[in-house]
Amino acid sequence: MTLYFAHLTDTHINKPGHNPMFNLNMTDKLRQAFEQLGKLAEKPAFVVISGDLTQDGDTDDYRHLRAVLDEESEKLGVPVHVGLGNHDSRPAFREGYLGEAPSEASYYYSVNEQGLRLIVLNTQVPGTHDGRLDEEQLEWLRGELSTPAPLGSIIVLHHPVLPTMTDAMDTHLLANPEALGEVIEGTDVIGLLSGHIHFNSIGLFHGVPSAAITGVAFGLDPTDHNGMRFIDNSGYNLVLVKQGKMIATPAYIPGEQPVVFEMSYEAMKAHAHA
Ligand SMILES: [Fe+2]
Ligand SMILES: [Fe+2]
Repeated sequence: MTLYFAHLTDTHINKPGHNPMFNLNMTDKLRQAFEQLGKLAEKPAFVVISGDLTQDGDTDDYRHLRAVLDEESEKLGVPVHVGLGNHDSRPAFREGYLGEAPSEASYYYSVNEQGLRLIVLNTQVPGTHDGRLDEEQLEWLRGELSTPAPLGSIIVLHHPVLPTMTDAMDTHLLANPEALGEVIEGTDVIGLLSGHIHFNSIGLFHGVPSAAITGVAFGLDPTDHNGMRFIDNSGYNLVLVKQGKMIATPAYIPGEQPVVFEMSYEAMKAHAHA
């Protein structure tokens, strides 16, 4: 059996008229990504977005995002699943996106998509940009993976588990990857999907592929080892599940990719201590 879906990440959306990041319109970028998906010869089975849904995490940002995603999901004719990142706020997300009472409870779940078990975890540590999997989720995951799914399982989590080619970025990864590695050993997990670093970075983690990909909102240049170079690009990841394996194909939306902002790590440190 074969299944294919789209993995998007880091949409960094704001409510209309509010474009704090380099004056880029993140809603337009998200719609463009869906437009590209709509042009594919074969429609993906579903879309999953791995966090940093909003830039500021306001309730109105989530209401707006929900309206946009409902519209795009209907146009494309497939479901959209979302997870949270460090820029998100659990209470505002629960209220604005889910229409629930606000609460700090972690947002994690699993869903069966045509035999594939898609598991979405919540790695954000509220109030920080750090990523960590709490005991509650690790325990839940252990139970979830105790029985195999027909096409296996794919785990979606905002903070990547593998080191990157940029040393400074490595301080921003999942803080306890080995705890996750220990839980997935010997299970039906066939791959991991992440975002957060805003560039494509793919490798093996405990024998399964782990793909962190560029953002829908913007990219970062992984070859700049002296600082952060933000690029006005936009991408997504086409994920194939075939012959019991996960195959990731990162793609960019065509167009110019200008640098919109850069700052050396030295200047950032000086700025932080000023
Ligand atoms: Fe992000
Ligand atoms: Fe992030």
